[in-house]
Amino acid sequence: MGKFNGKVVLVTGGNRNTGLDIVEKFAREGAKVFMCGSSEASTAKGAAELKARGIDGIISQACDISDAVQVKSLFDTIEREAGRLDILVNNAANQGLGHGGPLEMKPEMFYDVFKTNVVGGFQVTQMACNRFFMKQESRGVVVFLSSNTAMRAIRNRTAYCASKGAINSMVRALALDLAPLGIRVNCCAPGYIYTERWDALDPAKAARRRLNCPLRKEAKGSDIANVVAFLASDDSANMTGEIVTCDAGCSCQHMPEDVDV
Ligand SMILES: NC(=O)c1ccc[n+]([C@@H]2O[C@H](COP(=O)([O-])OP(=O)(O)OC[C@H]3O[C@@H](n4cnc5c(N)ncnc54)[C@H](OP(=O)(O)O)[C@@H]3O)[C@@H](O)[C@H]2O)c1
Repeated sequence: MGKFNGKVVLVTGGNRNTGLDIVEKFAREGAKVFMCGSSEASTAKGAAELKARGIDGIISQACDISDAVQVKSLFDTIEREAGRLDILVNNAANQGLGHGGPLEMKPEMFYDVFKTNVVGGFQVTQMACNRFFMKQESRGVVVFLSSNTAMRAIRNRTAYCASKGAINSMVRALALDLAPLGIRVNCCAPGYIYTERWDALDPAKAARRRLNCPLRKEAKGSDIANVVAFLASDDSANMTGEIVTCDAGCSCQHMPEDVDV
């Protein structure tokens, strides 16, 4: 018997990297899972990857979460195919890569990052609450993905770091307003996660990144999926408004080992 038997879950950005592992976790634990990427092609690629992992029954639909019309259409599909939703995982993110430093980046880029990471996450959450959670006796649970860069910045990622800080604040604000209604909102703040982007890294850079982690390793997608599953389950029934860091100890150190002399 899976931990999420009978539950209906939506994972945004569930079509690649960490999102795929989150979808896999819920599906293997018995949930009916819906997932979206931002485009038809990327969503279809993710659906094929899940099939290749031996996971059947995932319902996928492309949805740019910054577009209210596409979000409504995704929720129409959930209504038609499942008639309920129990868990929302706001995983999709615009990484805000390649915009340059704060003196060069175009303000429109900043807006693009916020439009997905903050406004997108908000409008999907609002729709989940109004369309489903508030009509269900058991209500529902929301889990956001932010980042340890919300607390400690990384270079040339101003918009991304700011958007993740905004997510942390939004999680606390939503948690306060939704707690009396029986809806919990929590957040996992990862550090380094192994993704396909690591394959393009110079091995020396990857090694240096690992040395930056007190546990000497980046997270696997499944490590993050386990934290998300905990926050989505009754095991965390008395938690709301929490930001749970999962970063191999990076945030607890003042300086990495080779600098701490
Ligand atoms: N990787 C890390 O080291 C790291 C560290 C800290 C926090 N995080 C956070 O953890 C989460 C997962 O990270 P990741 O590295 O696995 O993510 P990723 O590889 O950058 O993938 C991002 C996902 O979000 C989707 N997405 C982007 N914009 C979207 C939009 N407008 N509408 C719908 N979907 C959209 C992408 O879909 P497409 O394929 O269609 O683009 C993709 O599935 C993110 O929230 C990220 O910020 C990651």
